[in-house]
Amino acid sequence: MPQPDQHRLDADALTLEGIPALTQDALEAIAAAQDLAGLAAVRTSVDGDKAPLARANQKIGSLDAGQRAAWGKAVGAARGEIRQALERRERELTESFEQAALAEAKVDVTLPYDRFVTGARHPLSMLIERVSEVFVAMGYEVVEGPEIEAEWLNFDALNIPPDHPARTMQDTFFVESAESGLVLRTHTSPVQIRTLLERELPIYVIAPGRVYRTDELDATHTPVFHQVEGLVVDEGITMADLKGTLDHFAAAMFGGQVKTRLRPSYFPFTEPSAEVDVWWGERGWVEWGGCGMVNPKVLRGCGVDTDKYSGFAFGMGLERTLMFRYGISDMHDLVEGDTRFSRAFGVSLS
Ligand code: PHE
Repeated sequence: MPQPDQHRLDADALTLEGIPALTQDALEAIAAAQDLAGLAAVRTSVDGDKAPLARANQKIGSLDAGQRAAWGKAVGAARGEIRQALERRERELTESFEQAALAEAKVDVTLPYDRFVTGARHPLSMLIERVSEVFVAMGYEVVEGPEIEAEWLNFDALNIPPDHPARTMQDTFFVESAESGLVLRTHTSPVQIRTLLERELPIYVIAPGRVYRTDELDATHTPVFHQVEGLVVDEGITMADLKGTLDHFAAAMFGGQVKTRLRPSYFPFTEPSAEVDVWWGERGWVEWGGCGMVNPKVLRGCGVDTDKYSGFAFGMGLERTLMFRYGISDMHDLVEGDTRFSRAFGVSLS
């Protein structure tokens, strides 16, 4: 019966002398593992139950007493070294895995996380604010009136008689039924009457707002547009006050170089009346709005003592103001609500 080779553990053909090389191979495999999954596979092959050193360990007991110590020491040391290397490599890989995960999930805390474009305000809204600021700075108050207005305030109280052409179906949107006595206001002038009836004198107000006329939408008309009404009633008010106020307003809207002119005109509620034109380069004089000294008939109708008080009023088109101010030539741009247009005027961040 052949003597078993005591330097060899049968099944694995492992020799005592082979242990350092085996250990070296294991350490290299451990070092080469690039991630935790790879290391787990290496661990099974070098330190699992079926790893050569584990099997050797199991068989040490069956060796001659003389061999046990040497094998026990060599296998134990090799396994210890391999386990330490496994632990070290596991720590390294865990750490770099965590670092990579952190780097990937990195948040740039300097980014403006809560600021984004919410849209753009319509240039008309911004203009109304600008106009209000100009007049508030002169001591005016900003007032409002309803868009569905009593016919008598929109017309009669303003000395526009029932047979006046402005009252015909061509210009005015009437609110059903015919007897309702209501219209969509065709101008902001009814706010003059409301203010005169409601407020104490003296009066310095502007009234910006939406008005309606039965016009087709084209490059210069729209059935819904905006005006800003102005009304001043005080002692000793003259046409010169009106002119000075409009010049200041025009300069605030179009710059100090703007050219304006007053052209004699007619409105039932002002006397004398004028139209205000603005010089728009190649297009020449363009109408900006109407104005005049408040007709004493209108003042008296509201209970104002016209021996003591006089006043002026004006009504300017706000779409027109925008068109002159920014050189917008097509009304469609103002009414279509395309934010690519609005964004050029004012973008707010929130
Ligand atoms: N309400 C007139 C219009 O819409 C403008 C105007 C206002 C004229 C005030 C005189 C005084 O055409």
